[in-house]
Amino acid sequence: MDPIEALKGRRQFLKMLAGSPLLGYTDLPALLGQRGLGFSALEALQDDDGIIGSIDEAFEVMDFEPLARKMMLPEHWAYLATGVDDDKTLRWNHEAFSNFSLRMRRMVDFSNLDISTELFGVRWDSPIGICPVGSLKGFHTQGEPGTARAAHAKGNLMMLSTQTSTPVEEVNEAYGQPVWYQLYTRPDWENAQRLVKRVESAGCPVLVFTIDLLGGRNTVTNNRAQPPEGVRAPFCANCHDDLSKPMAAGLTRRAPGSPRAIYTWDYVKRLKDSTSMKLILKGIVTREDAELAVQYGADGVIVSNHGGRGSESLRATVECLPEVVEGTAGRIPVILDGGVRRGTDVFKALAMGADLVAIGRPYVWGLAGFGQDGVEKVLDILHSELRLIMRQTGATSINEMRRGRFVMDRRTGQRL
Ligand code: FNR
Repeated sequence: MDPIEALKGRRQFLKMLAGSPLLGYTDLPALLGQRGLGFSALEALQDDDGIIGSIDEAFEVMDFEPLARKMMLPEHWAYLATGVDDDKTLRWNHEAFSNFSLRMRRMVDFSNLDISTELFGVRWDSPIGICPVGSLKGFHTQGEPGTARAAHAKGNLMMLSTQTSTPVEEVNEAYGQPVWYQLYTRPDWENAQRLVKRVESAGCPVLVFTIDLLGGRNTVTNNRAQPPEGVRAPFCANCHDDLSKPMAAGLTRRAPGSPRAIYTWDYVKRLKDSTSMKLILKGIVTREDAELAVQYGADGVIVSNHGGRGSESLRATVECLPEVVEGTAGRIPVILDGGVRRGTDVFKALAMGADLVAIGRPYVWGLAGFGQDGVEKVLDILHSELRLIMRQTGATSINEMRRGRFVMDRRTGQRL
């Protein structure tokens, strides 16, 4: 079921319950009060619009989505929420997790549950990462620094977009250490290198080169929601008057209408050789490209389709994960993003071989609603859902989860 529909259904049920005469004759109000859902809370639900009003009302990550929608300019919402073509890959990213079921093991001692993961010799308290998303200040004034403080507080890895609305140096300060930096490179080598060197000087240990938008994208549903003049519309121009983002400072402006640059595998090698940072490729979805990534010197890959924003492939990232894991064959780490909304989604991806699982829109919903606190709550929910399913399956660490034991493809019955 569509997550928004499910949310509406749950709230409708609670409203119906709140209006029920049964409440007058039973001790249900007292019972609900004991469980934290007091009678007055239920009464309030009779009048509510299905949208959470405080952070404590959020029980699942999806609770933040309608609030974020309400808080944002429609144009910003469209930018965040949409994908390409008919937005089917965007939706399928999440729905496809339902094609994978879990084998539950019983009677396991889970007193020492460990959700930490290791990447390039660094241990992270959480296996959930923050995806690079552009212009976070367009969603909340706390933007990237607020997100970084939340990630720091909860032990999560943060990747910062080249389209950031805050300079990398400032975000690093808020994060308490250098972030991983996502690179949209420049067509000419000199400008590309200037950007890479700036990030390297800022101390970023990892460069995440995004390679899934190099051919452009067909943003139909987003285009429909934008004013005809685009960001040049008078209202938008208040904030979008200067199109150069902080990370473009000191770089030459690209001439409007200049032809799209062509990048091939040799570019990966050249980029890798030009920096001391680790190089990760974001947007790998096939075994063949996973093998080539290793061959051309990549230090890691991210199984990603840009949250369904690149091309309408109709392949969810979780469906691509097994072949990418086969292609890398344990030689370099594999990260997955796309459609992760539940602790069970995180669990499945880790169990199928990912070393880290990252989220995009969910933390932006939290940020839009409550700034740093909202991002922290989204992370808290996912961490506690992940711990819960680990206890239930008896998988006490990420190593324990590994392939072949816990996840099954429901369509084939095959263990993954
Ligand atoms: C993105 N994503 C993205 N990726 C990237 O490499 N650089 C970027 O600047 C952006 N910007 C961006 C903006 C918005 C509004 C969204 C929604 C996404 C893609 C992002 O890193 C990630 O791959 C997806 O968001 C993951 O999917 P979910 O979690 O949003 O379903």
